[in-house]
Amino acid sequence: MSAKKKIAVAAGDGIGKEVTAEAIKVVETSGAAVEFTTFDWSADRYLKDGTTIPADGFALLARDFDAILVGAFGDPRVPSNIHAKEILLGMRFKMDLYANVRPVKLLEESLCPLKNVKPEDVDFVVIRENTEGMYVDVGGVFKQGTADEIAVQEDVNTRKGVERVIRYAFEYAKTHARSGGRPRQRVLMTDKANVMTYAHGLWQRVFKEVSKEYPEFTAEHMYVDALCMQMVRDPRQFDVIVTNNMFGDIITDLGAGLQGGLGMAASGNIHPGKTSMFEPVHGSAPPIAGKNIANPIGAISTAAMMLAHLGMNREAEKIDRAVLKAVREKKITGDVGGNLGTREAGEWIARNL
Ligand code: NAD
Ligand code: IPM
Ligand code: MN
Repeated sequence: MSAKKKIAVAAGDGIGKEVTAEAIKVVETSGAAVEFTTFDWSADRYLKDGTTIPADGFALLARDFDAILVGAFGDPRVPSNIHAKEILLGMRFKMDLYANVRPVKLLEESLCPLKNVKPEDVDFVVIRENTEGMYVDVGGVFKQGTADEIAVQEDVNTRKGVERVIRYAFEYAKTHARSGGRPRQRVLMTDKANVMTYAHGLWQRVFKEVSKEYPEFTAEHMYVDALCMQMVRDPRQFDVIVTNNMFGDIITDLGAGLQGGLGMAASGNIHPGKTSMFEPVHGSAPPIAGKNIANPIGAISTAAMMLAHLGMNREAEKIDRAVLKAVREKKITGDVGGNLGTREAGEWIARNL
């Protein structure tokens, strides 16, 4: 019997391919008991034969794999981005991976664009609803191409969807201390209920209800515009932030900025008990693709998240420590102040596990 965990890999497009190769190299060197199977779902594949992901692809992933490691999807040769929609959003929606967990963690002071901010000051997690909201692709256009054109895009928020992700945020806060070991104490829900009265009114009501089940946490609320300002003014105040799909997308790029840029940010798309998917927050970055300059740390930290999710905490911690060492010793790519290439940075981390 093989005890190895089975990982499906879809590196995708652009720098997705480069950074995923480094993440795999690091995981293999860490000694984690995993077995990778690579899938070529990507823009290249789509342009070749018109397929994005096979019809049985999601069932196959759920049945035969313990986790999925993804790079990034997006290619200027596919302007509709249909393959990204079908593969990436397909995994999130069709596999019901409802909690998108995006840690915002500063590894070293020099990486943060803010003044006088220590690593322990930026250590919060955004839990982004991942299966509904403005991403449901419900809507349409009317009288397209005329002066009377109308475009409608629906924002779908269900009681079940809102409740489970809010509960996930509290459970996450319970089980994931800050890096120094200090327990998380605050869970903040952010929305725009002052304008989106129906959709975010539901979020408000559900948050109030669910937070009563977790009296040990301070339950807080901010409108998302004010939150953006506070993330930049004083990131120390946040432990766990829970929000809808679209706001979660936007504030996690802002969060990546606090960590040193998109190349540093990791994420997991999770449904407890189901095959979950792990991907860096960044995209395929076409302008820097194929140049061996993309930062592999977001992808490598993502792989560490995946191993921790699969119960391989020792290997995950080993990788996190080597990443931290790379950052401290500047054995990193140019975007974060080093002078190594993508491959060389990945190799350095693998050698220093
Ligand atoms: P992007 O994240 O690809 O790039 C934004 C900026 O960050 C660029 O300046 C880029 O060079 C830089 N950057 C990103 N990752 C980096 C890394 N690892 N190292 C160094 N610099 C890095 O976002 P974009 O330009 O808005 O989108 C490009 C394509 O990627 C689009 O097709 C978009 O839809 C897609 N996208 C995909 C995902 C995903 O697959 N999860 C996420 C975001 C964007
Ligand atoms: C992300 C990306 C995706 C999103 C795109 C590529 C569909 O920006 O993972 O943050 O909007 O969720
Ligand atoms: Mn995004």
